Amino acid sequence: MDTRCKNRFVATTKEKWDLNQYWYSANTIASLKKEVQEHATKVAFLSTPSVWFSLENSDIKNRSFFFDVPFPHFLISLLMICLWIRSSSCKNIVSEAAHWMSLQVDSQWEKHSNFVYWNYNQPSEVDRTMHHQFDCVVIDPPFVTREVWAKYSEAALLLLKEGGKIILSTIPENAEMLKHMLNVKRQAFQPSIPHLVYQYAFFTNYESANFSFPNPEVDS
Ligand SMILES: C[S@@+](CC[C@H](N)C(=O)[O-])C[C@H]1O[C@@H](n2cnc3c(N)ncnc32)[C@H](O)[C@@H]1O
Repeated sequence: MDTRCKNRFVATTKEKWDLNQYWYSANTIASLKKEVQEHATKVAFLSTPSVWFSLENSDIKNRSFFFDVPFPHFLISLLMICLWIRSSSCKNIVSEAAHWMSLQVDSQWEKHSNFVYWNYNQPSEVDRTMHHQFDCVVIDPPFVTREVWAKYSEAALLLLKEGGKIILSTIPENAEMLKHMLNVKRQAFQPSIPHLVYQYAFFTNYESANFSFPNPEVDS
């Protein structure tokens, strides 16, 4: 029997590798969705857009936000300047490129009222009205380094209410560092991230029944 489920976000959203976008598998998203829908009421999804898009509980979905960068704006600006400099001889190319880029930006997540433009390099640049408002954060950064995790930890602690739940994925080697930063513990369930070469683990700061057994999708 084929137990793989389908996911609309994964099927329709191309991963942008310049942003290190690696989506969880449909089954892993289903497990995360079950977990947050059982344990949370308002979630901050830090660099985990696939899970927000996949939520079925509309109350939780409407109250929650996904924090991400939809497109590398600085790259667009740089490209626009380069094209503008060369524009005297290639007017058509410039207008074609501008059109293509505006489509790229428009078609991204900015139109969603639950999207928050947030760059982990400025972790605390979050509207004050969002401080300590969430009872759960779900985190999957584009990098696994200490510097990057320090920034995600700062943002998570700013957004979470006291006693809020943390679910994150990263390499198992980060266990000790993340114990100190966010008091999280490795879980038995490992996420499947089909296009990522590393095998990640899930970590939480609470006992999770859903993540207490191995993921049949992942070879252990
Ligand atoms: C490894 S992927 C995690 C995606 C997650 N597994 C999912 O299925 O939703 C890294 C995420 O970080 C986001 N990202 C990349 N650069 C970022 C930045 N500077 N600030 C915030 N998020 C960023 C990407 O857009 C992507 O959603």
